[in-house]
Amino acid sequence: MSDSGKSIESFSGEEQRYEPTPAFSAQARIKTKEEYDKLYQESIESPETFWKRETSELVFRKPWDKLVDWQLPFAKWFVGAELNITESCLDRHLETERKDKPAIIFEGEPGDTETLTYTQLHQKVCDFAAALKANGIGPGDRVAIYMGMVPEVVIGMLACARIGAAHTVVFGGFAAEAIRDRINDCGAKAVLTQDGAWRRGKVVPLKATVDAALEGVKSIEKVFVYRRMSAQDCTIEMQEGRDLDWYEAIKAADSSLGVEAEIVDAEHPLFILYTSGSTGKPKGVLHTTGGYLAGTHLTTKYVFDLQEDDVYWCTADVGWITGHSYIVYGPLSNGASCVLYEGAPNQPDWGRFWNVIEKHKVSILYTAPTAIRAFIKAGDEWVDKNDISSLRLLGTVGEPINPEAWRWFYQKVGRGECPIVDTWWQTETGSIMMTTLPGVHAVKPGSCGVPFFGVKPAIVSSEGEELRPGEGGLLVVQNPWPSMLRTIWGDDERFKAQYFSDIEGAYFTGDGARFDQEGYFTVVGRIDDVLNVSGHRIGTAEIESSLVAHEAVAEAAAVGRPHDLKGQALVVFVTLKPGFDGNAEMEAALSAHISNEIGKFARPDLVVLVDSLPKTRSGKIMRRILKDVAAGREVQGDLSTLEDRTVVESIQARFS
Ligand code: WTA
Repeated sequence: MSDSGKSIESFSGEEQRYEPTPAFSAQARIKTKEEYDKLYQESIESPETFWKRETSELVFRKPWDKLVDWQLPFAKWFVGAELNITESCLDRHLETERKDKPAIIFEGEPGDTETLTYTQLHQKVCDFAAALKANGIGPGDRVAIYMGMVPEVVIGMLACARIGAAHTVVFGGFAAEAIRDRINDCGAKAVLTQDGAWRRGKVVPLKATVDAALEGVKSIEKVFVYRRMSAQDCTIEMQEGRDLDWYEAIKAADSSLGVEAEIVDAEHPLFILYTSGSTGKPKGVLHTTGGYLAGTHLTTKYVFDLQEDDVYWCTADVGWITGHSYIVYGPLSNGASCVLYEGAPNQPDWGRFWNVIEKHKVSILYTAPTAIRAFIKAGDEWVDKNDISSLRLLGTVGEPINPEAWRWFYQKVGRGECPIVDTWWQTETGSIMMTTLPGVHAVKPGSCGVPFFGVKPAIVSSEGEELRPGEGGLLVVQNPWPSMLRTIWGDDERFKAQYFSDIEGAYFTGDGARFDQEGYFTVVGRIDDVLNVSGHRIGTAEIESSLVAHEAVAEAAAVGRPHDLKGQALVVFVTLKPGFDGNAEMEAALSAHISNEIGKFARPDLVVLVDSLPKTRSGKIMRRILKDVAAGREVQGDLSTLEDRTVVESIQARFS
C-alpha cells in the first residue's frame, strides 16, 4: 500500500438527490426500500435461502451440498455442484419463447449488422466447441482470445466454456509483448483471433500482432482465425499446421462433438483475466464457474432491472471484466437482447452512439464516465439529432463520475427520467458490488450507493479500525461473495499478499472511499499505484518496468495526474543513461516504446526527461512528490526524508 493511503480527505460531497420516478418504480423488479432491505438482510443472515431461491432458474446438473467453504482467503461456492455455464446462458432459453429472441444484435463499425437469435447463437457455439475439441482442446486447457467486438468473440468465449477450457481474453489494444506475457503466464494451448478489426475507419491488424506475439512461444498449438475483413482490406499469413480458418475448422470437425456441454465442478476455472496491480507483472485473476454465474446473473437482473423486451447495450470491450460480466455471461444467462458494437464512439462522427440507440431501440445503456465526458465535449447537437427516447435506464462503471457529467447524462441522455446506476466493482469482484437499485433508491450524483445483496463493504483506517460516516478510509469487503476471484493464476501467495494482508480478515480493494449517514458509499479512487486512464486500469509499475527495459533509460517513475476527459493521464519522469541525449526525439521514442510494448492506450501524455528523480535517503523514489508536480500543485507533505531538495526544484522548473 502506498503512503497516500492514510490521508484521504473527508468532505461532505454532493447533497443533491434524485428519486426514481413513480412510473419506473411501479414496473421495477424491486420496487421499494423495504423489499431491498429485506432481501439484503436475508442475503447476509440466511445466504443459503437467498442463493437457493435466486439461482433457481439457472441450470445446475447437480445441486450443491454446501453454499460456501471459506478458508480465508480461499473460498469455494456452491460446493459439490456441477454445471456448464453455457446451459444457463443458451440451452435453457431454447425451451422457451426466447429461442427466437435476438441474443446478439451486432453493429459493425462500417454499419453492417447481424442478429443472432438464441437458437442461432447456441448453434454457433456448439459448432465452434466441436472445432476446438476436434483440435485437441479440452477441459482444463487455457485458450487466449485476441479479438475485436464481433459476435465470434462471444461465440469463442462460450465455446471454451462449453468444453471446460478456460479463456483468457486479451484486450485488442494490447501489443504483442503483452499478449506473449499473458500466454506464457497461463500456458495457453490455442489462440482465437481475427484477421483485423475496424476501429475509427482503419483496420487493426490483430492476426499480424498475434503472429509477432507467438514468436518463441512454445505452448500454442493452434490459432483459429475468424475472417472479419475482405482480402483487400486486410491480408494475413496463415502458418501451415498451426493456423486454421475459423469456419473451415468448423466444417472439418464432427459437429456432434459440441452438442453436449462438458459438465464441470462449480469451482472449475471459467476464465483468467489479467489486470494491473502494483507490481510490474500483470495478475491473472481467476474466476470459476458457479459463483461467477450466480453473481453476474443476479446483478444483471436487478441492477439493470432487466425486463423481457429490453434491448440492452453495454459499451465496454470484451477485453475487460465489464465485457465478460455484462456483455456475455450476465445478460445471456438472463436471456437478454444485447447490442454489440464493433467500433469507436466517434466513427463516422460523435453521433454514432445515439444513432445506434435509435436504430436498435436500445432501452438500457451501460457505459463509462470517460465516454460521457467525451460526448459532453463533442456537443449536445449530436445527441439531439437522434431519437433516443427508447432509453429507460442508464448505468456507469469504471471510475468515479463527476457530478457535472452525471447531470448531463441524466438530463440530456436520460431526459431527467431514466434512473442512473453508478456501479462500483472490479475485475477481482467479478460482478457489481455497490450500486443503487433503479426502482428503489434515490441517487446522489458521484456516489455509487449501497451494497448489492450478499456484500458487506466497510471503510477502515490503515490499522483496520472501522470508520464512521464521513471519514475517508480504505474500502474493504468483510465477507466472501460468490463471484469473487479465487486466486491469482499460479500464485496463491501473491493473491494473499495483494488482497488479504493489508487489513486482517477482509478483502482490500485498493480503493479509497467514504460512506454517509444513509449508508451510501462514495469511491474516491485508487490509493495504490494503479491508474485509471479512460477507464483502463494501468499499473504504474508496469509502465516503469517497460521503460527501464529501454536501452536509453536509467530510471523511471510513472504517475497519474487529473485529466478532464480521461479522468487520469499518465506522466512519466525518466533519467537517461550516460551517452543518451535528452531531446524531443527521445521523448517521442520512449512514448512509442510504451505503446509498442504495452499498447497504445497506455501511451503517456507527457514524458519528462530529468537529471535525477526525487528520492529518500534510502534511495526510494518519492512518487507522491512527482504526482504533485505533474498535477501542477504545491508539493505537499513531509519532505524531510528527501535526499536532495534541489532535484524537486529543478523538476518543478520544467512545469512552470
Ligand atoms: C474503479 C472495472 C468509482 C475503482 C469494473 C476500482 C470505480 C477499479 C467505479 C476497478 C465506480 C470502478 N466508481 N470507481 N462506479 N467502478 N471503479 O478492475 O478504482 O477495470 O478499483 O473493473 O475501477 O477497475 P477494473
